[in-house]
Amino acid sequence: MRPVLVLLLLAITTNLAIAEDKVNFSEQIQPIFLEHCAKCHGERNAKGDIRLHSPAGIREAGIDYILNPAKPEEGELLARIILPVDDDLFMPKGGDPLAQEQIDLIRKWIEQGAEMPENSPAAESEEDPLPDVPPAPPEAIEKLVASGAQVLALYQDSPLLRVTFAYSDKKAGDEEVALLTEVAKQVIWLNLAQSEITNTGSAPLATLENLTHLHLELTAINDEALAHLAGLQNLAYLNLYGTQITDAGLEHLKGLKKLKKLYLWQTPVSYEAAMALQDGTEGLEVNLGWNHPEVAKRRLNKELERVTARKEDATKREEQAKAEKDSAATRETEIQKELEALNPKPEEPAEEKPAEEKPAEEKPAEEKPAEEKPAEEKPAEEKPAEEKPAEEKPAE
Ligand code: HEC
Repeated sequence: MRPVLVLLLLAITTNLAIAEDKVNFSEQIQPIFLEHCAKCHGERNAKGDIRLHSPAGIREAGIDYILNPAKPEEGELLARIILPVDDDLFMPKGGDPLAQEQIDLIRKWIEQGAEMPENSPAAESEEDPLPDVPPAPPEAIEKLVASGAQVLALYQDSPLLRVTFAYSDKKAGDEEVALLTEVAKQVIWLNLAQSEITNTGSAPLATLENLTHLHLELTAINDEALAHLAGLQNLAYLNLYGTQITDAGLEHLKGLKKLKKLYLWQTPVSYEAAMALQDGTEGLEVNLGWNHPEVAKRRLNKELERVTARKEDATKREEQAKAEKDSAATRETEIQKELEALNPKPEEPAEEKPAEEKPAEEKPAEEKPAEEKPAEEKPAEEKPAEEKPAEEKPAE
């Protein structure tokens, strides 16, 4: 018994390092946003129409738009914090750049899927007390570890287990999945991403009654496997990205009342079926991915609305400016006329000097206002002539 326990503890401590690798929003990311961004993107201020102080604010701003987990560098947030400080779009606006470690942390968090707690960090555990289960038989854990799984206690001394095959040298398959029935009550978190699990081999998953998180992304399973998940009443997170799940498979998930996150990136599932499931399950967020044509269409339509509004706004301002310019120009002409009317005398002396033979050339030379003379002679033509150059200037 002793050596087994020691081995187990060793396994747990080594695995902890890997588990800690996962960026924690509340502990590592939120404090950066609160310190550097929230005074302009917070509860009271929403510059650029976005709030970054809370998960709800970030979700409202649009995770795909500002974070874009599929291509973090194309998300507005990362794109702006890595700009040179003198760029107009650089964030935090007017402040010092974030430290490189902070930027790296944010990038990593986004790459890992930009996960955030639903509401307050405590909300999840408050709403759902953890199940009270007996410890798993040590031999069962030992067998799992021997098969390449990493088995972690949920927290120190907890009988609840997180099991992942993600770091195994050899890909896990149905044989490994079958071992889970011996720890069925204890497994709360299971990662079978990229494993070789099959539809029939996924039957043991039905016994994991306390399971809350399940990764099945990038596996060969399809709708048939989902039938085995229909009874997992505690499931809150299910990742089916890159599988062959279709609309029919989603039928099996309709009864999962606690499901909050469902990832369906790059699956044949239709937008309508995904939204129908989302609408039918309170609190569920179905994620079809940034690249899904319908999602992209909606995002672009939303952006189009914003851009069009901005254009209309600018057009209005432009029209206003033009009206102001026209009225100023009209007044300008009037004043010039009035001034000319008040200055009949300077012209008489001009005529009093008949000694000079070229009065036509002399006048503009003397009086400098070359424009004034034609103004007297052809007032109708003068106005447009004056206005045209005035219009051309702003265009330059
Ligand atoms: C001093 C105020 C200020 C601070 C601090 C600030 N921002 Fe901004 N932010 C703005 C303003 C103003 C805009 C809107 C103008 C623009 O788009 O550049 C904006 C826009 C943005 C946008 C684009 C929103 C959109 O709809 O396209 C993002 C993303 C952003 N900020 C992220 C951040 C991040 C991240 C931080 C903290 C590291 C931060 N900002 C700190 C003022 C600020």
